[in-house]
Amino acid sequence: MEIKIQLAEKDIPRKWYNLAADLPNPVQPPLGPDGKPISPDMLTAVFPMNLIEQEVSTKRWIDIPQEVLDILYRWRPSPLRRAVYLEKHLKTPAKIFYKDESLSPPGSHKPNTAVPQAWYNKQFGTTRLTTETGAGQWGSALAFACRLIGIECKVFMVRISFDQKPFRKIMMKTWGANCVASPSNETSSGRAILAKTPDTPGSLGIAISEAVEQAVTDPGGRTKYCLGSVLNHVLLHQSIIGLEAKKQLESVGIKNPDVVIGCAGGGSNFAGIAFPFTAEKIHGAKIDIIPVEPKACPSMTRGEFLYDHGDTAKMTPLMAMYTLGHAYVPAPIHAGGLRYHGMAPLVCQAIVEGLQKPLAIDQIECYEAAMTWAATEGFICAPETSHAIAAVIREAKKATEEGKEKNILFCYSGHGLMDMLGYDAYLEGKLERYEMPDEDIKRSLAELNGLPKPKAVKTGKW
Ligand SMILES: Cc1ncc(COP(=O)(O)O)c(C=O)c1O
Repeated sequence: MEIKIQLAEKDIPRKWYNLAADLPNPVQPPLGPDGKPISPDMLTAVFPMNLIEQEVSTKRWIDIPQEVLDILYRWRPSPLRRAVYLEKHLKTPAKIFYKDESLSPPGSHKPNTAVPQAWYNKQFGTTRLTTETGAGQWGSALAFACRLIGIECKVFMVRISFDQKPFRKIMMKTWGANCVASPSNETSSGRAILAKTPDTPGSLGIAISEAVEQAVTDPGGRTKYCLGSVLNHVLLHQSIIGLEAKKQLESVGIKNPDVVIGCAGGGSNFAGIAFPFTAEKIHGAKIDIIPVEPKACPSMTRGEFLYDHGDTAKMTPLMAMYTLGHAYVPAPIHAGGLRYHGMAPLVCQAIVEGLQKPLAIDQIECYEAAMTWAATEGFICAPETSHAIAAVIREAKKATEEGKEKNILFCYSGHGLMDMLGYDAYLEGKLERYEMPDEDIKRSLAELNGLPKPKAVKTGKW
């Protein structure tokens, strides 16, 4: 029995997969401040046109440039591993497969999109990129990509993670990026938030506002903004995860897994593993597809499907998504990359259509899962990834109860070697259960009352 299923470099996917081509109903368009759909040229202050074209594309397959592949080869194709030691420990008839995205130089799936985003920007003439980062995984991925491709990189890091994860900022510096805590005094949106709440732990929504502001106010127009998740083109770049996994499973005789799982902050690693299989489901395969979020930030399970801004200062267009409201500042859990008020519109559309079924898990259960993982498989996972592992353990136990030999596939989105303070807090018994009170959700969603509403969508039977 093979526990590492490799894919030869010559078999690496040469095209990305775009779910927008196969969804039964189209994603509802982003809206501008006047409530009307925005046109691609309205995004040019923020993104280069070559990435805007990908953002609005409904083409099923998009070529991966050879120069991008030449960089991805450093760690791709990534192995598909079988978690046999966890299976034995759980005494489950299920087979658990995981796509190991922790092997990239920064340690997560994020470089799969950081590299093409930096590359397309460079082609376009961008000289400096700004971005936000939660846990620091995305910031370090973009710093890495910018270093290799030769662009300046500025990262606004959510305050709580800036303090909790000092080594991530040193990684960013090592790759030549400039990293500051957000909210910062460098932008007017940051200054406004600091004046109101000087002790705020920050949020991804706030950091996005700061990074976008610096891009759009650059007088030369050579600074652009990059996002590590949520947007269609980011999810497109991550599809390489699921496309590789599909070839690897086929090589051991599995056409489709029974269950696909990924943790979801903005939805990119989940979409990466899940979308190629969502296409199979649309065309008749029976697959349970589960995005997993923290109970402290339950956008998909307790938020509403509404038009909302992607950031706190309302600088981004309105997107139709499950949201807790752009003003919501999630509790400072250690899975910093899952602290986002919204979710990728493409993932939300798949949920609305009934193709994917989200799940929320508390951080204590997730750390317990991470400890079981470390004790069986031996690896120390990122706190974000532990949400996927907790869901996998639940599914494996369900398979035992049902006596079914299911194939479970999940995305191992990153290692946790830079996140040891979270483990320390768990081991010292200092972690709390966070569940968002109903009143907080209601209060934060009330701010969206005057905004346009998405159209009703007929749910399919899958
Ligand atoms: C290791 C890891 N997994 C998952 C995520 C969540 O992001 P996304 O939902 O875009 O995959 C992050 C975000 O920082 C991360 O660092």
